Amino acid sequence: MRHLLLAGILASILWILSPSLMQAQKFEGLALTPPMGWNSWNKFACNVDERMIREIADAMASSGMKDAGYQYVVIDDCWHGERDSLGFIHPDPQRFPSGMKALADYIHAKGLKFGIYSCAGIQTCGGRPGSRGREYQDALMYAKWGVDYLKYDWCNTAGLSAVGAYTTMRDALFAAGRPVVFSLCEWGDNQPWTWAKDVGHLWRTTGDITNCFDCEVNHGSWSSWGVMKIVEMRKDIRKHAGPGHWNDPDMLEVGNGMLASEDRSHFSLWCLLAAPLIAGNDLRAMSNETIEILTNREVIAVDQDSLGVQGLRYNDNEESLEVWVKPLKYGDWAICFLNRSSKAQEVNFDWSKNVISDDISKTTLNASERTYRVRDLWAKKNLGTTREKLSAKVPSKDVLMLRLTRQ
Ligand code: GLA
Repeated sequence: MRHLLLAGILASILWILSPSLMQAQKFEGLALTPPMGWNSWNKFACNVDERMIREIADAMASSGMKDAGYQYVVIDDCWHGERDSLGFIHPDPQRFPSGMKALADYIHAKGLKFGIYSCAGIQTCGGRPGSRGREYQDALMYAKWGVDYLKYDWCNTAGLSAVGAYTTMRDALFAAGRPVVFSLCEWGDNQPWTWAKDVGHLWRTTGDITNCFDCEVNHGSWSSWGVMKIVEMRKDIRKHAGPGHWNDPDMLEVGNGMLASEDRSHFSLWCLLAAPLIAGNDLRAMSNETIEILTNREVIAVDQDSLGVQGLRYNDNEESLEVWVKPLKYGDWAICFLNRSSKAQEVNFDWSKNVISDDISKTTLNASERTYRVRDLWAKKNLGTTREKLSAKVPSKDVLMLRLTRQ
């Protein structure tokens, strides 16, 4: 009996020490499908405090978002207070008087996960203390607070190597021992898709998104980008995404002021791109339309499909009606007709005349060889099979999003 007890104690000690004994690596198995959650930046920018974050967690649980798969409640920039005399970071005492541990406990008690933001530079983009030179200390603090997700930005990093800086924080998180989803946010400047697979779980591919469908907002030295501008920016990187490592075209602007049709298109495209689904709106004050978009499980299932293949644009030649496809598990396909124009457009699609192949999953959609059932994922209606031609009308800036299931 005593031996058993001793062995148990020894095993526990080894288990606790194991991350620091093992060679540093990223935590595996945490993002086998694209992470889903919420982040404060798009709607609230620097205006964050503990009451609002608690209310957001409440709303995530009560609105149906948690049930639809959203998990992470992430505080972006500006939560920071000062470092203490030993260099440990603390939250802003006015905005977070109860401290981060209490906030994490609150979020965990709702069955959700807690995320935070820092920056590889000396200061964050919002001018708060960054993690440069303090990576191991910060990672320890986050572990102590119960942080499950870290978004790590790239402001004020002159002279730093991105691979080096992000690898250091990965190693620091690993040494701290608490599994953390590591979200790289260096805007695609250093092609993270070519090196970050073993560093993080997702990496931003572009500059910041803004809440318009197809615009650029010029801020002087940098621009933020509408949904379609982002979609067009990185065309050849889909092969780099997969279970555990995702291209991140930035957080969602659904519910932040675009038309419902534009929000639907934005959400559909993010799902086709196997993008992380990080809502960026005020979950406490959502219209029914916004809730319906963010919680449409059949559309989310396209994003979360365990095959983990990022979708692609099938046709480039049509002027304003684009066709996007994503191969899914068990030989299913998602297919999305996107009408970018200002007028409604007819879709007349003969399945048997369109053989669609994907060189990454090595799969082919060939309706002459196999029949698929067709389901409209937004109308939640079955539309027959691929034996019949598809005829439909897609309103302006809207989508017809279908799932094809093998018969
Ligand atoms: C950068 C990031 C944004 C946000 C802000 C915070 O611009 O790309 O997503 O985190 O910093 O200051």
